[in-house]
Amino acid sequence: MKNFYVTTPIYYVNDAPHIGHSYTTVLADILTRFHKILGYQTFFLTGTDEHGQKVQRAAAKREVTPQEHVDEYYHRFEDLWKKMGIGNDFFIRTTFPEHKAYVQECLQKLWDKGEIYSKEYEGWYSVGEERFFSDDELDENKCDPISHRPVEWLKEKNYFFKMSAYQQKLIDHLNEHPDWIVPDYRRNEILGFLRQPLNDLCISRPKARLSWGIPLPFDPDYVTYVWFDALLNYVSASTAFKKTFADGTPIWPATYHLIGKDILTTHSVYWPTMLMALDIPLPQHILAHGWWLVNGGEKMSKSAGNVVNPMDYMEKYGNDAFRYFLAREMVVGQDANFTHDAFVRRINSDLANDLGNVLNRVHRLVLTNFEGKLPAASTIGEAETEVITLAKKVIEEIHTDLPQARLSQSIETIMSLVRSINRYLEVKAPWKLAKDPAAHDELATVLYISAEAVRLSLCLLWPVIPQKAEEGLAMMGAAFKSADDLTWGVLKAGVAFGEGKPLFPRIEEEVKKQEQQPKPKQNKPLATADVPAAMDLRVAQIKEVANHPNADSLYVLKVDAGEGELRTICSGLKASYEAAELQDRKILLFANLKPSALRGIMSQGMLFAGDLDAATHKCRLVAVPEDAKPGDRALFKGIAPSEPRELKVKDFEKISLSAKGGAVFCNAGEDSAAIALEVNGKAVTCDVADGAGVH
Ligand code: ME8
Ligand code: MG
Repeated sequence: MKNFYVTTPIYYVNDAPHIGHSYTTVLADILTRFHKILGYQTFFLTGTDEHGQKVQRAAAKREVTPQEHVDEYYHRFEDLWKKMGIGNDFFIRTTFPEHKAYVQECLQKLWDKGEIYSKEYEGWYSVGEERFFSDDELDENKCDPISHRPVEWLKEKNYFFKMSAYQQKLIDHLNEHPDWIVPDYRRNEILGFLRQPLNDLCISRPKARLSWGIPLPFDPDYVTYVWFDALLNYVSASTAFKKTFADGTPIWPATYHLIGKDILTTHSVYWPTMLMALDIPLPQHILAHGWWLVNGGEKMSKSAGNVVNPMDYMEKYGNDAFRYFLAREMVVGQDANFTHDAFVRRINSDLANDLGNVLNRVHRLVLTNFEGKLPAASTIGEAETEVITLAKKVIEEIHTDLPQARLSQSIETIMSLVRSINRYLEVKAPWKLAKDPAAHDELATVLYISAEAVRLSLCLLWPVIPQKAEEGLAMMGAAFKSADDLTWGVLKAGVAFGEGKPLFPRIEEEVKKQEQQPKPKQNKPLATADVPAAMDLRVAQIKEVANHPNADSLYVLKVDAGEGELRTICSGLKASYEAAELQDRKILLFANLKPSALRGIMSQGMLFAGDLDAATHKCRLVAVPEDAKPGDRALFKGIAPSEPRELKVKDFEKISLSAKGGAVFCNAGEDSAAIALEVNGKAVTCDVADGAGVH
């Protein structure tokens, strides 16, 4: 039997759950349910991270013990998951005695093996993030780049894990398992990070400063670093709590660790090296999703005070609508904006209109014309074959796409089936056939075919909207019992339809105009040296080439920017390339450049080319390594990308790109050396003369 073990981060118990936490948990729940319906045995783990300074301080403030504090606070997560119908198999808390004993066992093992040593350390320490930061990670106000709170200079003896010893082994692992970190561009970030020497990891805190933690078994004056404790939860569920799949197989190694990109380094550098040192097999995949942003570009977080409360949406619009929105709206990996209007639009168009409509139409027609009993199909024509073929194709695609966890795309695939049933109904117009006694058989066929296709759509959507899918199936006298139901022809003629009710009533609210285009936050101007890290440069592939209707020198290109994202780019390549030469060509895209209208058409980014001949404006496209795929990130060598933000032409103009020896380099300021541009460690090239500008 195929196994699927998925985890979410264990959330900091101190913070109130917001939609960011709900998202990861809903994603895990949906993936688990998808695997269930495809016949896997599944295990789904979530929980709370309960040690550390923040907890100790919060408890002191409330004048309770830390244990009393966490015992009270963890309920906020557990209760929310129950209300949201999350089907986790276990809720782990790092204060459980079994977990603490297991962490100590691991620490002792590493100590005995000589993988841990002690030394004096000093550096900038962030209480918010509970770790040291290097000088260049801090912002101008000496705040850490994540919680944006001031850091403190600390000097103390501490214990260190020999993480650096595993650097090469980790790089080898990443090279041998290209899909270990998904999506690709996150993997490239980690590979980029690993090009610099890895430090050893400080894994202790003196008890004098932090008492709320797991004591080191070999030095009771110290407790273990919160991440060392927290990461081990994924294995301790299996080893210490003896959790198994239904057939008794231990759950570790995990199939997927789902995380947000904020904790990518801890999961894909600290964690695997810890496991290597412990001789424990690594998880199969780490999936880092993007952030839910609010107010047009701010990360949602407690410290920013801009959280969207999931309960508000669940209570007002129902759990399934909320789940559907989260899963459909965010392309896994990329950031997404949470706006109320996007919510209303998405629910109305997909669920109320497309899905609700087709179900109600079929249901009503069977009720009024066949006394509520599903008629049989007689003649299968071309239109019917089309629906059946698409239904089968969609089922197959879900099977093949699922391991990549591209949830938003999978939902879109299912919705394409739903929309095709609506189109089929529009063409066949059964409401007209119903008025013509001679068309009785045809009407029966149309209703059977659409009912069966709706049934399949609902089964496929069950992981996303479990309750509504079950209600919808019940309306058609059907239910979803096993993977066998995912085939064409399960609904039998003669089955009695149940009572009807609108599953997803339209949300009748005025969609506010000004909210539709949230104003991007005004970013502070970038320092020249920070520009290379802030540029989102990606491989993209040209899918369509058309002439610009209002400008002779411009093409309008549609490019695949990765993860199914299609962008429109206006570009002045006409003097240099025929349309046919551009088709399917891979280019380098500047993806986070502020979109701007070029003669009436919005260009969502810009592509790069090198100057060939200044007089004729001829140029050569910048080329990416042959095996690069759309969405692969191009990185400046040795520079870790910074937080995503929109850049202006003004920002870009602070630096310059030029060619040398056929490769592309960046010059960021007078006295900085030229920095090579690479995709997956291979040079980005441009076949122009040395010193030619690249724009
Ligand atoms: O980091 N958008 O816990 P945490 C999307 N305890 N997802 C978001 C989000 C947002 N705006 N905000 C939070 C910790 N998340 C550690 C984890 S694991 C061994 C220890 C989600 O409470 C996302 O999954 O800060 C992110 O990685 C996680 O919550 C961070 O939760
Ligand atoms: Mg956090």
